[in-house]
Amino acid sequence: MKTELLKIDSPQQTDLLRRAAEVLRSGGLCGIPTETVYGLAANALDEAAVRKIFAAKGRPQDNPLIVHIASMEELPALVKEIPPEAKALADAFWPGPLTIILPKADCIPDAVSCGLPTVAIRMPSHPIANAIIREAGVPLAAPSANTSGKPSPTTAQHVLHDMDGKIDMIVDGGACSVGVESTVVTLCAKRPRLLRPGGVTLEQLRDVLGEVDVDKAVLGELASGEKPSSPGMKYKHYSPDADVKLVRGSLESFARFAKTYPAADTLILCFDGEESAFTNETIALGSASDAKTHAQRIFRALREADDRSFRNVLVHCPDDRGVDLAVLNRLLRAAAFQIVETE
Ligand code: TXA
Ligand code: MG
Repeated sequence: MKTELLKIDSPQQTDLLRRAAEVLRSGGLCGIPTETVYGLAANALDEAAVRKIFAAKGRPQDNPLIVHIASMEELPALVKEIPPEAKALADAFWPGPLTIILPKADCIPDAVSCGLPTVAIRMPSHPIANAIIREAGVPLAAPSANTSGKPSPTTAQHVLHDMDGKIDMIVDGGACSVGVESTVVTLCAKRPRLLRPGGVTLEQLRDVLGEVDVDKAVLGELASGEKPSSPGMKYKHYSPDADVKLVRGSLESFARFAKTYPAADTLILCFDGEESAFTNETIALGSASDAKTHAQRIFRALREADDRSFRNVLVHCPDDRGVDLAVLNRLLRAAAFQIVETE
């Protein structure tokens, strides 16, 4: 299959939007920009189209997909009920990087929900994503547009790298502004529960909902055989071919630890101003306190490690506050939970 790359700069380019919408309406797959990461979209109500997503990504069959909508009018048809917490979250954070798990309506195909009685819904804020959903006239199922297990794509080039020849079209709408996937919160548990941290922070969720539980899989490793609340949490994820380790400790002790690795094979991900402590190649993720920039840069940096054939990546461990909780969650999985304490 030839994968067409289509650059769309603005939601006013209706002729181009129509071409992407046509691919989706006719059962094809289209990579689309969102504010979080690029998505691999199909018509969520077309079971055969949705199944193609799993094939293109090599995605495990039990990992359900997020359904993307462009307006609140679309929501009632997709879910069994809209609890007041959902309304409050939507008012506060939609459109934006938040996914809400709700009881699913019967029209949601099994291919989307993977046998669960629930469905994940998100309304992205990216103007091109919004315009494509509207133009297609159907909700779009879209996981991140990476090969399963690899770092998520934050540019159209990343999508092309993973999906060239496997999907019909990629819409290039520029680099993603958030850089990590949406926050996933379920309203189908006893209390609201954070399943995946993202661009909307736990602190922001608590401001709106009061108490919010944090699923154990957010920062912890599940025991083998343990059933996750979110199937995606059990897989090794976001992971380059290089071996990734998180390093916690002072800059001096990190630099000493880095010296135990062959310099030419080992990439350091650190914070601004720390580069000169290392003899290795470094990529700075922004200043230590700038979590939003860490999020914007993390997947690109992990992909760069593979593009440049590094065998090891040592990452200065971020905090667990604000958007850094999302960055830490992704890095823990990229590193298969390997953390080195250098102090
Ligand atoms: O920002 C995002 O959310 C991006 C963009 C494209 O919108 N999408 C994305 O999709 O990250 P994906 O498939 O890579 O991650 C979806 C996560 C998975 O961990 C999946 O297990 C979980 O959401 N999920 C989906 N439906 C669920 C459900 N009904 N119950 C629990 N978890 C669910
Ligand atoms: Mg993903």
